[in-house]
Amino acid sequence: MPAAGEQGVARAHTLAEALPYIHRFYGQTLVIKYGGAAMEEATLQEKVLQDIALLRLVGMKPVVVHGGGPELTRVAEQMGLESVFREGLRVTTSEMRDAALMVLAGLLNKRIVALLNRAGVPSVGLSGVDGSLFQVEPLRRHRGKEVDLGYVGEIQQVNTHLLRHLLEGGYIPVLSTLGVNAEGEIFNINADHAAGAVAGALKAEKVIFLTDVRGLLRHPPDETTLIPRLTLAEAKRLLESGSIEGGMIPKLHGCILALEQGVRRAHIIDGRLEHSLLIELFTDEGIGTMIE
Ligand SMILES: Nc1ncnc2c1ncn2[C@@H]1O[C@H](COP(=O)(O)OP(=O)(O)OP(=O)(O)O)[C@@H](O)[C@H]1O
Ligand SMILES: [Mg+2]
Repeated sequence: MPAAGEQGVARAHTLAEALPYIHRFYGQTLVIKYGGAAMEEATLQEKVLQDIALLRLVGMKPVVVHGGGPELTRVAEQMGLESVFREGLRVTTSEMRDAALMVLAGLLNKRIVALLNRAGVPSVGLSGVDGSLFQVEPLRRHRGKEVDLGYVGEIQQVNTHLLRHLLEGGYIPVLSTLGVNAEGEIFNINADHAAGAVAGALKAEKVIFLTDVRGLLRHPPDETTLIPRLTLAEAKRLLESGSIEGGMIPKLHGCILALEQGVRRAHIIDGRLEHSLLIELFTDEGIGTMIE
């Protein structure tokens, strides 16, 4: 018999190493916040969505919550709308909210669904408006301060009934983060907050945030200062300390939201790296920042 090539052995080894993890996560719900570079770059995008399809095919129940800030900024600019952020959150006029609906719930959501379907797993794209999936109220407080960001909603409730139906039916739900209030008005929701809320409501095993840095950094932008692990209490202190900036604020907030509602672990990982989801889930090393 010919000897297996070194490469073949390495591959088989990787698969064997994955087995206990596949076993542990079988049937478990996993919420993935999809954003950053992994959503911007075409080949990376296709790879990430193939990995998510793989997770479904080995028995996990992934739910995708996507962002799309850069694309929204581009389209809004073409519409003559300027993007303004406060502490990582988008100031949202009614015109910006309409642009968010078009770009997030339309263009980007359907692109993701099409790619997942092509990767062999049926998926369904919804906004939080559909089936009143995300019931919101205007966000009024942020990091202990009163804020008015316009049509930025804070999730009060997630319709898990609808999500569970989809998951039981074998579908991957792909969620864009808009929601409705009691009056039927539509609001934009920060995607990191929404991912945390969805994971919490579903009592997911994990929530994983794909982003375009290695993880949570002690001294950004120095990527050698990665914080590999921290507890929920440490994460809260860090958020309050003011050393976290920009887009990392809502992300850390999303992790805290999820953990406070009983999610076991939250991860912030590098979406620029090919197969980062598989490395995190199926290898002994793990990557990025883990909060528990
Ligand atoms: N302490 C920190 N650790 C890591 N990143 C930080 C920190 N403070 C600020 N950042 C910034 O936060 C950014 C990540 O948030 P950002 O909103 O830009 O991306 P995203 O949420 O992954 O993508 P999207 O908003 O498109 O969904 C990093 O690229 C980094 O510049
Ligand atoms: Mg962001």
